[in-house]
Amino acid sequence: MNDEIEKLRVDLGERAYDILIGPRLIERAGAEIARLLRRRQAIIISDENVAGHYLTALQDSLSAAAISHHAVVLPSGEQTKDLEHFGRLAQEILGFGIDRGTMLVALGGGVVGDVTGFAAATLLRGIDFVQIPTTLLAQVDSSVGGKTGINTPHGKNLIGAFYQPRLVLADIGTLGSLPRRELLAGYAEIVKYGLIRDAEFFAWLEVEGSAVCELANDALRRAVMISCAMKAEIVAGDEREEGDRALLNLGHTFGHALEAETGFSARLLHGEAVALGMVLAFDFAARLGLVSLDDASRVRGHLADKGLPTRLAQLGLNRTPADRLMAHMSKDKKVRDGRITLILPRRIGETFVMRDAPVDQLRGFLAEAA
Ligand SMILES: NC(=O)c1ccc[n+]([C@@H]2O[C@H](COP(=O)([O-])OP(=O)(O)OC[C@H]3O[C@@H](n4cnc5c(N)ncnc54)[C@H](O)[C@@H]3O)[C@@H](O)[C@H]2O)c1
Repeated sequence: MNDEIEKLRVDLGERAYDILIGPRLIERAGAEIARLLRRRQAIIISDENVAGHYLTALQDSLSAAAISHHAVVLPSGEQTKDLEHFGRLAQEILGFGIDRGTMLVALGGGVVGDVTGFAAATLLRGIDFVQIPTTLLAQVDSSVGGKTGINTPHGKNLIGAFYQPRLVLADIGTLGSLPRRELLAGYAEIVKYGLIRDAEFFAWLEVEGSAVCELANDALRRAVMISCAMKAEIVAGDEREEGDRALLNLGHTFGHALEAETGFSARLLHGEAVALGMVLAFDFAARLGLVSLDDASRVRGHLADKGLPTRLAQLGLNRTPADRLMAHMSKDKKVRDGRITLILPRRIGETFVMRDAPVDQLRGFLAEAA
């Protein structure tokens, strides 16, 4: 096994930080975190599934680096991102007697990362935190870029802050215990980076994507590395999503409508919705004559080959009235002034923001989408 570690710098001036990518990083976490500490105290936040696999290893690593630590283990799943759980978590962390020098450590997927980041952003008006993402989605997407937040009955991530971690340790060895469906959902986000602005990376995935999904170390590290590098570069250029960062939402407005239609349930994972959403974005762009049918079918073919959903009928969503999907799309928080904004491709590797998408054509397209 190749144990090499890749290092990537997210260039955000005084808020710059490193992302380390490779196997066995949890074992090194204590030493890496110790360098950043003002006070040798860390609070680990994890969830039940992840803690069962990796909490002891992380605790041992912190102890070996003479860092005192406590752990809070949250229930697994999206419901943990609500205000009630957050209130309890905040009280529990404060109960440990923290001060501005305390470090929070997120050990888990995007849920744990988002909640921990929001706790770090708000407790004592801001303390440091480290991300140890353990899902593929969190390693290539949610742990990079500094979006933190929790959900409300009005919608997902509506309470939150932009707040950057001090360090990200993407231990690709943790992906071995991830359920296959969760792994593939994360893979969809990797494909997204190729489609947004790196045709060569997409072509590489067409060849090596199976090795990535089989968790071959070299292919996996490279895929995570290129994805993080692209997200880091986009975020560094547009931290607060006023421009190019919106391209990262390729497939998300369509995907959001499908997630809303399936009640944000396990019937359709976020990454699966993004996969299907990207297929719809390419198909719609092909209908508008913006992208070739060849590119659209390459995208569908690759995602389908990996086992991701690429047809509405697979989820029984092909009979959903177009107006219902449009209503969900116009409630997406990326919508400005009630108009529908879509990220659409010109070709594989080149995308743009279409503000004010042509709604009649969109309705016609959705009515026929199968
Ligand atoms: N901040 C951002 O920029 C950003 C971007 C995308 C998504 N998100 C958020 O991320 C969340 C989704 O993240 P996710 O897909 O990682 O979901 P998740 O955190 O719920 O993890 C998915 C499931 O896998 C389990 N798990 C995690 N790591 C494991 C491992 N190594 N082995 C075994 N089981 C493991 C978890 O317990 C959970 O049951 C959503 O809340 C979404 O809003 C945030």
